[in-house]
Amino acid sequence: MGEDAKVRARARQRFEDENYAETLAHQHRQHVVGKDLESVFGYIYRHNLWEGGESAAGEGSDRAATRNVRDQLPGLLRRWGVRSILDLPCGDSAWLASVPLDGVDYLGGDIVDEIVARNRGRTGARFDVLDITKDDLPAADLLLCRDCLVHLPTSDVLGALANIARSRCKYLLTTTFSRLTRNVDIPAGDWRPLNLRMPPFGLPEPLDTIVEVDLSAIGDLPVKALGLWEISSLRDVGKP
Ligand SMILES: C[S@@+](CC[C@H](N)C(=O)[O-])C[C@H]1O[C@@H](n2cnc3c(N)ncnc32)[C@H](O)[C@@H]1O
Repeated sequence: MGEDAKVRARARQRFEDENYAETLAHQHRQHVVGKDLESVFGYIYRHNLWEGGESAAGEGSDRAATRNVRDQLPGLLRRWGVRSILDLPCGDSAWLASVPLDGVDYLGGDIVDEIVARNRGRTGARFDVLDITKDDLPAADLLLCRDCLVHLPTSDVLGALANIARSRCKYLLTTTFSRLTRNVDIPAGDWRPLNLRMPPFGLPEPLDTIVEVDLSAIGDLPVKALGLWEISSLRDVGKP
């Protein structure tokens, strides 16, 4: 099976559960239940629970799974005049390091301090410990938030979007699944797809899109994408 076919087969597997959700195994869940986000994601990182063959951020951050985004990101940055990126969360930042950013200023951030320390030791780039749901976010033209909100409870997703709306970043590029018809809640550290255009988020139509995995040839399944929004359009998110 070729790399693209493997990525599609894995994505399809994730959609077999009726809620499209993936849960932490019971023996791990009991160590993180009721803990804050930093403890949950620190535990996941230290125990390599996302089992990435190449990346501790999980197989969604492997070379094959990031091919479309690596190919299309430079064009999107040019189209929207992006000169600075806040990559939050960055995970191990490995896939983005192979994208030619051509003088674009880069700051990576993650809630897990071991991830940040390791990235600092490994690369010459700048990294800070940041919690996207509540920390004061450094200004940037683009906040890239890939594969993060899908691991947070709905209340924290709303908290993150409100925090981003308060920031001095101009654009948000974040994971969303078009064609998904409802959003379900999860405990921190599990996974489920989110359609940010559906309740309770109700974001407008994205300005631009990078399609990562399109399963429409297989069946009526959600399409994994990065959507681009102007952050000023997030001000009313989650308000009745
Ligand atoms: C699946 S990885 C994705 C990393 C990266 N965006 C990528 O595409 O490879 C999810 C990351 O989100 C981080 N994370 C979870 N909650 C966070 C939060 N509230 N603020 C910042 N980082 C968070 C985790 O520590 C983990 O490194």
